[in-house]
Amino acid sequence: MRMVVLGLGYLGATHAACMAELGHEVLGIEVVADKRELLAKGEVPFYEPGLPELLERHITSGQLRVSGSYSEAAEFADVFFVAVGTPQKKGEYSADLKYVDAAIDELVPLLSRDAVIFGKSTVPVGTAQRLSERAHALADEVDVEIAWNPEFLREGYAIKDTLHPDRLVLGAFEGGRAERIAREIYQTMLNDGTPFIVTDPPSAELVKTSANAFLATKISFINAIAEVCDAAGADIGAVADAIGYDARIGRKFLNAGLGFGGGCLPKDIRAFMARAGELGAAEALSFLREVDNVNMRRRTRMVELTREVCGGSLLGARIAILGSAFKPESDDVRDSPALNVAGQIQLQGASVTVYDPKAMENSRRLFPTLDYAPSALEACENADAVLVLTEWPEFVTLDPRQVAETTRKRNVIDGRMCLDADEWSRAGWTYRV
Ligand code: UDX
Repeated sequence: MRMVVLGLGYLGATHAACMAELGHEVLGIEVVADKRELLAKGEVPFYEPGLPELLERHITSGQLRVSGSYSEAAEFADVFFVAVGTPQKKGEYSADLKYVDAAIDELVPLLSRDAVIFGKSTVPVGTAQRLSERAHALADEVDVEIAWNPEFLREGYAIKDTLHPDRLVLGAFEGGRAERIAREIYQTMLNDGTPFIVTDPPSAELVKTSANAFLATKISFINAIAEVCDAAGADIGAVADAIGYDARIGRKFLNAGLGFGGGCLPKDIRAFMARAGELGAAEALSFLREVDNVNMRRRTRMVELTREVCGGSLLGARIAILGSAFKPESDDVRDSPALNVAGQIQLQGASVTVYDPKAMENSRRLFPTLDYAPSALEACENADAVLVLTEWPEFVTLDPRQVAETTRKRNVIDGRMCLDADEWSRAGWTYRV
């Protein structure tokens, strides 16, 4: 089938490449010229394992093309995916929908045939209805149907999550063509037995926001229990393992530590609270404020713990920070807990040296005043404390004896509970979590 993907950021580039992989003929629209030129060469402006290879393969074969022209998009197909960003509004909790609105405003007046537009971006409940009215007002004697088909991909696993999702969700207005078309698009996955939930647009929008809110809540729950464990002298790792064996609870997303960051969970729970407020249901989601608070407290606590291991003051201390991406297998530093901690520690008078296997360039751009080292060992030179804040495999396998040869003191703080505590202690380190 022919289709257009509007917006080739993280979500759109992955979706476009995966749709080509399913055998569809895809035109990707990207309005930022620099990004477009890279993608047209099969290069990806961010780190995602496997994506450059997949893109290059389908661009070379002609199955996937990249353009900046909405007229070309309107001419090319009758099926569209909106995959543009929905960032948090500056100084507010709510989502900024200006890119989603702009995509509809630019595309719909150019359509000369009936079309179905699937939204993939994470949006506040009610957006599909609003866009549907907007599209009908803009359409020139053609029928434009809007439907919502949220995406649940995780960074670092984007291709696997797109091609082999846990479930497909479609929110379609009654009597339309969206379900039939979606079944055709995703036929390979449906044949493989992927559950397909077809519902109304507000429910589909809510599936996405509630899933992210649940994941954030699960992480903050275990981090809240970690606070109690700290106070009681209990072991959060053992508690998480033991409760995780209960199939009703499950061990996934129960890793205590520095908490969640990135371009999705933090902004999505805030936008969800803001939307509930607009709907007069603020009280229903008031617990999410506490989820956010617990999460932010992890960062403050990490700074306090670092001060404590440095003898009560960070002034003049040398701190090594291993990991600046918001999670491993990503170069994304949006709302990175690690960089937030690095910035706070520096403000308290320490000199901070950061190393990350993939996120150095993005980190430098966001925090130009921190020092950066070309390797983990070099970041640790003369350090009073080593903080592991992203659980990259290369940090998990560090040899604590080798690290000890470069540092000034042997203090390690394991912000992601990913190191072998016994091994580090045996090598003479004071190990803290
Ligand atoms: C998330 C959702 O998982 C995904 O379904 C949605 O489409 C987008 O948002 P992503 O932001 O890529 O995906 O990362 P995820 O793997 O969910 O991790 C989010 C954050 O939570 C990271 O900072 C991670 O370090 C943290 N985390 C995760 C924990 O602190 N503890 C855990 O147990 C799990």
